[in-house]
Amino acid sequence: MAKKESHIKTTMEEGEIYHPPEEFKKNANINDPGIYKYAEENYEEFWAEKAERLDWYQKWDKVLEWDAPFAKWFVNGKINASYNCIDRHVENGKGDKTALIWEGEPIDESKSYTFSELKDEVCKFANGLKELGVEKGDVVTFYLPMVPELAIGLLACARIGAPHSVVFGGFSPTALADRVQDSDSKVLVTADGYYRRGKKLNMWENALETLENTPSVEKVVVIDRLNREDISLTEGRDTYYHDLVENQSLECEPEKMDAEDMLFLMYTSGTTGKPKGVQHTTGGYLTGTSLTHEWVFDIKEDDIYWCTADIGWITGHSYIVYGPLANATTTIMYEGSPDYPEKDRFWKIIEKYKVTKLYTAPTAIRLFMKWGRKYPDTCDLSTLKLLGSVGEPINPKAWEWYHEVIGGGKCPIVDTWWQTETGMILITPLPGITSLKPGSATKPFPGIQADIYDAAGNSLPPNQGGYLVLKRPWPAMLRTLYNDSDRYKKTYWNEYGSDIYFAGDGARQDEDGYFWVVGRIDDVLNVAGHRLSTMEMESALVDHPAVAEAAVVGKPDDLKGHVPVAYVILEGEREGSDELEKELRAHVGKIIGPIGKPAAVNFTRDLPKTRSGKIMRRILKKLEAGEEAGDTSTLRNPEIVEELKKQVSN
Ligand code: PRX
Repeated sequence: MAKKESHIKTTMEEGEIYHPPEEFKKNANINDPGIYKYAEENYEEFWAEKAERLDWYQKWDKVLEWDAPFAKWFVNGKINASYNCIDRHVENGKGDKTALIWEGEPIDESKSYTFSELKDEVCKFANGLKELGVEKGDVVTFYLPMVPELAIGLLACARIGAPHSVVFGGFSPTALADRVQDSDSKVLVTADGYYRRGKKLNMWENALETLENTPSVEKVVVIDRLNREDISLTEGRDTYYHDLVENQSLECEPEKMDAEDMLFLMYTSGTTGKPKGVQHTTGGYLTGTSLTHEWVFDIKEDDIYWCTADIGWITGHSYIVYGPLANATTTIMYEGSPDYPEKDRFWKIIEKYKVTKLYTAPTAIRLFMKWGRKYPDTCDLSTLKLLGSVGEPINPKAWEWYHEVIGGGKCPIVDTWWQTETGMILITPLPGITSLKPGSATKPFPGIQADIYDAAGNSLPPNQGGYLVLKRPWPAMLRTLYNDSDRYKKTYWNEYGSDIYFAGDGARQDEDGYFWVVGRIDDVLNVAGHRLSTMEMESALVDHPAVAEAAVVGKPDDLKGHVPVAYVILEGEREGSDELEKELRAHVGKIIGPIGKPAAVNFTRDLPKTRSGKIMRRILKKLEAGEEAGDTSTLRNPEIVEELKKQVSN
């Protein structure tokens, strides 16, 4: 597999160390380093104590059943995630506290919901879904922009025990159809369109195209975001959201779910063309996300917390919806782009709502750096107390800028490493304890055992690059891949035995035990913090009649971390041209969605291959990074490397 070929670099420079500010440390939720030792030595008790933070209908008989690689947490516990995120706060006197603030992209549009109001909306939608025939266990697919109905919809599904599957709104009809088919959804929730950079964009047209290929879908719920009059609904199949919820009861008894019942599916790109349906369950997921949310972001009662992710990705699930709401935290969701109407929109939002905790991605920070400090400098950011980062390694320069310009030099930064599969943050500072090294996600969360292995499975000494592994199960871990346990075993639990989780990331640990994650070592690209499969892009290219063969690799990019670049061999005598490049980019965009478009297409007569015909993407990657190709003696056609090198440098 690809990892044996990969060369792990360990070049993130180390700089200054930032200790927790005294005042912050004093007031932090967690400031006793003894917690690490305690969790390590009392691993199951630690998680059992933490599960007590939730309200259970019935307590578990056993904390963990680990039949590697299959885990069950809080066995026989009964719980409902929607109840834990809403009702119990209402019952505890927090009904009037703001639960959700939604900021629309148009400057004058916003809404907010108290916990009581959120309960009403969730119950109405849940009853509406029931009316459409949704039953416990039925998967409901959401294909939506960042509208409040998305957060409400997740909780409505959780309330009635229908797992949700959210597909990011930037995916194409083909990608959406694949995901709907794989999950066999009967209901699709979508919108007529949305706002982006002030423009009205279609969504309904994509949904209609999808529906031609998704016979399982019986009902479609449409959110009327744009008040479009030019669309017509199909009677018996389509309903407007506002009509569906209008006369629904404000009461909807939460289902008593088993701790191990599926809460949701989240499709993510893997090393083959077929996306993986990562399956998360209820009790462990909610325990893990709510605990990490409280400890990592040092959450206090009066926090105004904003995670800028899209709910179409795992970060939005765990740290816009479930974690914060389980903790009764006021959580913000923003619909639009950071540069509308001006490049100061994020800072204006922070000023408007007096945001105290901000969680965003390095790619966004690099963009803000490029735009310059004049935008944040004109807004009042003094309410901020802590900053977070997620999705890719943050380069020390961006870290320093974030710390200084956004955090005013006083806010700890939590660089959090985790994945769709892990469900919760796993490697992270605890801001009242951990000294920070810019660029490092620091140390495993209490109770988590991480390590760096070489290819043979030996634990590596400090500062040697290897493969990041997790050596113990954790409550929010994925339980399997939907309908594909074999792939689950092969992808994550095969390299080093069935009880060692193989994360697919290259990393090293330094002499202080800090983890430095470098990036993916498989055929997955991290583009602006979004995971894309090179195989998916390659099969989209080969789908075009002009293309005989294609290879896609990541090219380092100052803003996005990496961008996909394609190498294409054309059919027969065809010749490459600017028009064809445009056409191929558009073709991939159509099959995967705009986020999958290659930044460039190189036409070539051949690709570097081993004698057995395997494409050596590693060499292409090096050319794109401007590095030496390295040993080409094992290639069948070493001469092509020089040719491509010239082409790339041109
Ligand atoms: O390569 C790691 C990178 O993002 C991958 C997970 O992507 P996804 O499942 O889309 O989830 C993203 C949000 C949790 C990881 O395998 N990654 C995520 N966070 C970090 C990171 N790399 C370095 N540092 C991080 N803090």
